[in-house]
Amino acid sequence: MRIHKLAAIGGDGIGPEVIAAGLDVLETLATSDGGFRFEVESFAWSSDFYTKHGHYIPPGGLERLKEFDAILFGAVGSREVPDHVSLWGLRLPICQGFDQYANVRPTRVLPGVKSPLANGHEIDWVVVRENSEGEYAGMGGRSHRGLPIEVGTEVAVFTRAGVERIHRFAFGLARTRPRKHLTLVTKSNAQRFGMVMWDEIFFEVAKDYPDVNVDRELVDAMTTRMVLKPATLDVMVATNLHADILSDLAAALAGSLGIAPTANLNPERKFPSMFEPIHGSAFDITGKGVANPIATFWTASMMLDHLGEHDASRRLMNAIERVTANGVHTPDLGGTAKTIDVTKAVRKAILDAAKSGTQQLEPLKQAT
Ligand code: NAI
Ligand code: MG
Repeated sequence: MRIHKLAAIGGDGIGPEVIAAGLDVLETLATSDGGFRFEVESFAWSSDFYTKHGHYIPPGGLERLKEFDAILFGAVGSREVPDHVSLWGLRLPICQGFDQYANVRPTRVLPGVKSPLANGHEIDWVVVRENSEGEYAGMGGRSHRGLPIEVGTEVAVFTRAGVERIHRFAFGLARTRPRKHLTLVTKSNAQRFGMVMWDEIFFEVAKDYPDVNVDRELVDAMTTRMVLKPATLDVMVATNLHADILSDLAAALAGSLGIAPTANLNPERKFPSMFEPIHGSAFDITGKGVANPIATFWTASMMLDHLGEHDASRRLMNAIERVTANGVHTPDLGGTAKTIDVTKAVRKAILDAAKSGTQQLEPLKQAT
């Protein structure tokens, strides 16, 4: 029996709701497989916890997390705590402390889901985001606070080692995809130091991947290309800030923020990697039971792949697609289903497929 030690951090807002749903589905997968199981420990680190204790991660907390094979993370952010405090208090210490430098965000329009684009079915992308430095390196400061001469700086930090490793990761990923196409995204016309170095290192690394087709786009032009010519894109690699923005656009084009997954990978596996839906705490729907759990399920499927459970990963993705095709949609996708309805439907689809012994059941007919 293969055992995977999982740390679950629900966090704030709808985070705990979608993580509970994700754990249910993972449990169903494990029991219907029989070859592996999870040992899950939940951590109540959140903005409430911070308000009570003065910290998001208690002393020694990161050390504890190191014992796990993977981390499943909900969201952090609350109305009571400024966003820069919550983000830097919980999510970024894990990403940066565990050197999860490759943030991977696959995007496609799932069956039965409507894209705002007429040709949305052409979307089949992976956004690779540099996740350890760049614009979010935390370098900068403020002086002369409150005075008319107050100054604030936010310095983007790009290191050769950091840039080269994310490019190598992106090329390696592009190589595994049918189209083997990688688009470099920067803003090296206006930003002529760090961004120009990004471009240079990209083309140096490209020499080691002659089988990957490359092209480049400035980030502003990239937004229009994603909307107008989705079929021309496959894998894209961009800095922390640029890819953060582009991947939210990608999620919206794929139908909803509620279905978009992400993996924060430490590719060398020196530290656990962290898997999370792209979305945040979603205050407007917290506690209503209508959060879309699909982003978390898709994220869980990425986590299974990372843990070497490729068959379970595929079974989960198939179950998700059967359920979206079948029209079991939460309100963000125009439906009336609750989180629990989608969760039950995905668990049933997993069990049905396991019973019938088929891994690749045809999607059910679209509900009318
Ligand atoms: P958000 O992602 O929380 O919400 C944006 C919109 O999308 C809202 O209308 C929300 O209802 C909807 N939405 C998001 N996820 C959904 C789901 N699973 N199902 C259905 N609808 C969903 O982004 P927003 O409003 O900018 O941020 C709210 C808080 O979350 C802030 O404190 C922010 O800092 C934090 N945040 C945290 C992130 C993280 O932990 N990785 C990422 C983004 C935001
Ligand atoms: Mg974002």
